[in-house]
Amino acid sequence: MRLSLRFVIPLLVALAIFAYAALPLVDKLMLRWFSRDLEVRANLIATTVDDPLHNLVRTGDRSRIQEFFTRLTQDERLFAVAFCPAETGDPVATPTLPAEVRCSDLDRFTQPSGDLLQTTSGPVFISVRPLVSGGKLVLVHDMSFIARRSRETRDYLFLFFVGLGLTVALITVVIAQLSWRGWVQGLRALLRGEGLLVVLGRAGGRGFAGPPPELRPIVKDLRALIEDLEADHRSRDGEQLAWSPATLRQILRRELRGQEVIVVSNREPYIHMRRGGGPGIEVWRPASGVVSALEPIMRACSGTWIAHGSGTADRDVVDAHDRVVVPPPPDAAAYQLRRVWLTEEEEAGYYYGFANEGLWPLCHIAHVRPEFRRRDWEQYNSVNAKFADTVVEEATSQDPIVLVQDYHFALLPQMIKEILPAATIISFWHIPWPNPEAFAICPWREELLDGLLGSAILGFHTQFHVNNFVDTVDRLLEARVDREEFAVTYRGKPTSVRRYPISVEWPPAAELLAVPVEQCRTEIRQRHNLPPEHAVGIGVERMDYTKGIEERLRAVERLLEVEPQWIGKFSFIQIAAPTRIHIEEYRTYEARVRDLATRINQRFPEAIHPPIILKIEHHQPNDIFEYYRGADLCMVTSLHDGMNLVAKEFVSARDDERGVLILSLFTGAARELPEALIVNPYDTDQCAAALQLALTMPSAEQRTRMRLMRGLIQDFNVFRWAGRMLMDAAAMRRRGRLPDIVAVPAGQRQGSALKRIGLR
Ligand code: G6P
Repeated sequence: MRLSLRFVIPLLVALAIFAYAALPLVDKLMLRWFSRDLEVRANLIATTVDDPLHNLVRTGDRSRIQEFFTRLTQDERLFAVAFCPAETGDPVATPTLPAEVRCSDLDRFTQPSGDLLQTTSGPVFISVRPLVSGGKLVLVHDMSFIARRSRETRDYLFLFFVGLGLTVALITVVIAQLSWRGWVQGLRALLRGEGLLVVLGRAGGRGFAGPPPELRPIVKDLRALIEDLEADHRSRDGEQLAWSPATLRQILRRELRGQEVIVVSNREPYIHMRRGGGPGIEVWRPASGVVSALEPIMRACSGTWIAHGSGTADRDVVDAHDRVVVPPPPDAAAYQLRRVWLTEEEEAGYYYGFANEGLWPLCHIAHVRPEFRRRDWEQYNSVNAKFADTVVEEATSQDPIVLVQDYHFALLPQMIKEILPAATIISFWHIPWPNPEAFAICPWREELLDGLLGSAILGFHTQFHVNNFVDTVDRLLEARVDREEFAVTYRGKPTSVRRYPISVEWPPAAELLAVPVEQCRTEIRQRHNLPPEHAVGIGVERMDYTKGIEERLRAVERLLEVEPQWIGKFSFIQIAAPTRIHIEEYRTYEARVRDLATRINQRFPEAIHPPIILKIEHHQPNDIFEYYRGADLCMVTSLHDGMNLVAKEFVSARDDERGVLILSLFTGAARELPEALIVNPYDTDQCAAALQLALTMPSAEQRTRMRLMRGLIQDFNVFRWAGRMLMDAAAMRRRGRLPDIVAVPAGQRQGSALKRIGLR
């Protein structure tokens, strides 16, 4: 279809240009034809009236001459007639003679054929003919009928060209479709051997048993060619999709036969909390980029989300199977949340210990030393096994699609695969992957890689992290590494390692944009007792040492040193959600940030309004969007970050196309948003200069930058992120690289993951 359109559209354009150029020519041609007719007519009239007019002139009776002329002008095309005597005597004319035609001035009608003249009565054609009997006969022909005919002819021609264009287009499309289908069918038939059957039948009448050996390489090449063509066709379609929840649902239905989707993450999307320790329950949305990205996906796909139930009221709202339907009212229920309970000991070892004191600092270059303890590793193992068993419990088929999230579950893919070999496991590592030397610090490095390679697809945000992972496998495991395809084959099973940059929901949920920007500006200033014109910067994150909060505050301090006009005129509001508070490193970090903010505020006592406003508390998405929309700039200065969705959320919040984003060079987002002011957070002077640039940036420049960034996020939204992984998983299944559905009856499943690791 696209191929035929490529031909048809230029054809229609060419026809339109041709018609546009041809129509004025038609006018000219018509005029020439009619002028020639009038010339002949004028000669005829002059010859015919010569004698009778001569006789009438001789009588000198002007009224009879006029009556004679009036009779002549009864022909609708002859507008007026006049007689101009040779020397003496008055001219005689019909009253219709245009004022512009005078006997004294006949010489200007010089053309032998006649002359066109625009008069107050419309266009006329003047013929002046000398009479044999003396004097001149002036004939004034009405030309309006020619304009009428010209118009009619033009209309007919235009309709003709439109009809011609449509007919040619229709024939082209039909022929193109027929020949494409015929060609593909022919090739398919050839691959099935039908074409060869005919050849073989003719050759010797032998029975058909597949293509003969000498033709097999050709058939193989043709098959590869068709697969490539089909894949190319599909991926081009993919690029042109407008990615939305509906697109995702369509992919699941069409490409994955409506299979169920199970998401596993440590952090749950809705946390039920006891309000102030009392009986009331409130629902929290956690400060986690992973959760904010996956939530719209689950709303679109339904299915089940398995996560650690960490809220103080989580147990009060689940059913007998530890499930609760979310989102909670008043939103419409969309999917099921299955909560997994962890003992204090499990949480301490698996979450605080191995995941957040070991893997988190191991993967982030933030100069915090990773801690690895055997008891943490054991808890990490047993909690991964617990989640694997929960996946099996929740799966209603043998081949679910399981989306495993992040560094909390490196062992999970392999554990699921052992119990449900036909499951399609897509794992996503949301944080950076270090280089092989750094990763090799971990005493259980091979086990972690082995676990992750149970996935069919393993995703990272950037190509850099993909490369690091492939290098790590190459260095540490006996695996086959294909660097062209970015695929690793380990224990005979392939894992495709790809880059899928995560994003945010586009357009953002309507309720997040409901309050107008002007109102957001006013409200956040009033809340902090700032004057209406006060400049405001915003930072939003968890209180984490990888986020570069200290570096950011130092940049604000430096700005006030070098640009003192901002003292008391600019405040930076830092929202920091408390996080991982049982880890010493996080507690000292929070204390350092608090001290730094106090020191900076005290350093500028002349500022009526403090330079730093620190808000170390949990905020709901609505409140955060209000800050994004009401601020003049947003600053993201992570020391190292897989993607950083705060940057993308800020851009998605600014439907007024204003506001400046300052973004750390060390985030995945910086590769996609070069229109932000890109900074090195370790360079305090550069960050201060970026703040000055942002605070003085003309609104036209803000708009240009914001438009470009919004365009990118619109095209590469979170539905595209998930959709691309699902499409790739579907393509892998189709190509048979993944095992097809294995019909293992429920009773014969291969036991539980906890039993396997000797814990049950
Ligand atoms: C990072 C991790 C997520 C995690 C989030 C919040 O973004 O990649 O997996 O959920 O931090 O951390 P928390 O420990 O509170 O879940």
